[in-house]
Amino acid sequence: PDRIEFYGERQAGIITPAQDRLHFVAFDVITKDRDALIDMLQSWTAAAARMTAGKEAGALGAVGGVPEAPPEDTGEALGLPAADLTITIGFGPSLFDSRFGLRAKKPAALADLPKFPGDTLDPGISGGDLCIQACANDPQVAVHAVRNLARIGMGVVSVRWSQLGFGRTSSTSTSQATPRNLFGFKDGTANLKAEEATLLDEHLWVHAGDGPDWMAGGSYMVTRKIRMLIETWDRTSLLEQETIVGRDKGEGAPLSSKAEFDEPDFAVEGDDGEPLIAQDAHVRLAHPTENNGVRMLRRGYNFVDGSDGLGRLNAGLFFISYQRDPHKQFVPVQTKLARLDQMNEYIRHVSSGLFACPPGLAAADDYWGRSLF
Ligand code: HEM
Repeated sequence: PDRIEFYGERQAGIITPAQDRLHFVAFDVITKDRDALIDMLQSWTAAAARMTAGKEAGALGAVGGVPEAPPEDTGEALGLPAADLTITIGFGPSLFDSRFGLRAKKPAALADLPKFPGDTLDPGISGGDLCIQACANDPQVAVHAVRNLARIGMGVVSVRWSQLGFGRTSSTSTSQATPRNLFGFKDGTANLKAEEATLLDEHLWVHAGDGPDWMAGGSYMVTRKIRMLIETWDRTSLLEQETIVGRDKGEGAPLSSKAEFDEPDFAVEGDDGEPLIAQDAHVRLAHPTENNGVRMLRRGYNFVDGSDGLGRLNAGLFFISYQRDPHKQFVPVQTKLARLDQMNEYIRHVSSGLFACPPGLAAADDYWGRSLF
């Protein structure tokens, strides 16, 4: 398309076919004034509805207002198309502390994630009261969206951390070809897909009765910034790389067979009597049949934040997953991966986030957070 509908039963940006670019931002609320926060969420909703339709953030636009006032739009997206922009909001665990009277509305599913073995998290780029996931097929459009929401939120929120991403690492629709992550492997092959309605209902969307009513129809987002030790990986043999993942690098097929979308068969053994897909291969450890049927919808992006001053790329995967209950889905899988995954030698988790993404908005008089406050 080019324009993704902002209103609807679900928030856009979850099962929307993954766009190519990401600007993710987490905010801290800096006011104690509950009404100021609600006002800002109303302004944000109106601006998001406009920008996802390819319009300027405010009605007077970048150059249509009075010359004596700052413009209602920052201008860098003038002349650019909507580029499939989606703007998805999430509420972090810390929003539900004592400040805004939301304690009783905090879902159990939003309890902080545990510390996983090997975590090297930087608190300065983790957490946040609110988050915005802006995805688009033009990086300038995604950056414009985040910048204008930050501008509108001045005095109410401050940017805690943000992350740019390029090259989606997951397909979220069967209509998309599987992209590759920076290890060079296809990523998203066995992902939950938009077309799998029954599975999405079971594993992605929060049901009425799962927790507080305001989250019914929404989904929980986990973010993990995962640094990849690219230079070490690049000195590793192809055989070793494929063994670690459990799939071949060219086709993306499970090592137990030939084609990308074949179901992995973990029982098949080679001539040496060892399983073709190793016990500690990433796909075996993460596969639903090895995890009581647990699934999640992955929607991550590659990142390269320049270099680290030590001659290495500061690069990796900004992992995003959506699920009905992170403590029943992400947590058990990551607990296992953190303990056993051979890939751990080549990755470091440096940031973590958990956010409750409410359902979509029905129409223009509705706003983000209305059912919550
Ligand atoms: C599958 C890479 C982190 C969960 C895969 C695949 C690759 C991959 C190449 C196979 C293709 C596919 O089905 O998508 C990576 C890399 C990571 C990473 C490079 C870190 C830098 C994670 C994390 C989780 C996760 C943190 C969740 C805790 C999964 C799941 C699958 C998968 C659920 C599908 C397994 C299946 O059903 O066969 N990953 N992954 N991955 N990964 Fe990861």
